[in-house]
Amino acid sequence: MEVIKAKTAGFCFGVKRAVDTVYEQVEKNKGIPIYTYGPIIHNDEVVKDLQAKGVRVIQNKEELSRIGEGVVIIRSHGVSKSVCRQIEEQGLVCVDATCPFVKKIHNIVKKESREGKHIVIIGNSSHPEVQGIKGWAENKVTVVESYEDARNFSAPCGQQLCVVAQTTFNYNKFKELVEIINEKGYDISVLNTICSATKERQTEAKKIAEHADAMIVIGDKNSSNTQKLFEICKKACNNTYYIQTLGDLNMNQLRSVETVGITAGASTPNNIIEEVQNNVRIKF
Ligand code: F3S
Repeated sequence: MEVIKAKTAGFCFGVKRAVDTVYEQVEKNKGIPIYTYGPIIHNDEVVKDLQAKGVRVIQNKEELSRIGEGVVIIRSHGVSKSVCRQIEEQGLVCVDATCPFVKKIHNIVKKESREGKHIVIIGNSSHPEVQGIKGWAENKVTVVESYEDARNFSAPCGQQLCVVAQTTFNYNKFKELVEIINEKGYDISVLNTICSATKERQTEAKKIAEHADAMIVIGDKNSSNTQKLFEICKKACNNTYYIQTLGDLNMNQLRSVETVGITAGASTPNNIIEEVQNNVRIKF
């Protein structure tokens, strides 16, 4: 049996950097309380492992306000300026693991809104990354998520607009939403800030699934990017299995296949991927 593991399976650059940062901080700050602002990634295994090492998760500003000492790590999604300020004002150490691609959006939003532009963020309004980006605007800011939002958008005549995107937003939908806003005749500058990591992972997964007899997609059941990956693979290969860990894999389903593909969502740690890969190899 041939086992093909996707090169893009698992953590993207920004997530890996953020997770590594937490482990480094644990090593560096023995005896000092360490917190992450929100779970560092959507993966129970990793969050539990960090919890066992004493890392606590702060869910919101209210919980943050009750902390008197320690290190607060900001995850790859980033946070608003007010959260950064609150961490500093409380005398806590802030370790910023915001993905540099997200940080770049914060800087654009800060600069352009300072110059008087109305910021339009194309993204999912309830997503923490979008909430964070919004919090760097110093002027008017609107989140456009749907075609309806785009159609309903309006700004005063002569108002300059600056459009940015959530890093994981679908590129085609981004283009369509920008087009709807553009037709209204504003003075508009559009910055495509979509990160290519998700797209590359999906393209590679599809390619492998098209050639494989069975496909394994590994990721947390609550991870939306893993669910999307599963859908893409399932379309290309009917024998696609969605597992969280090796324990969920039914080896009998792979008995008569010749080629097995493996991919994983952005929040799946490498050790889980390797464990699955090695076991599939050994069993067959
Ligand atoms: Fe950063 Fe792109 Fe990952 S923005 S967190 S490298 S998906």
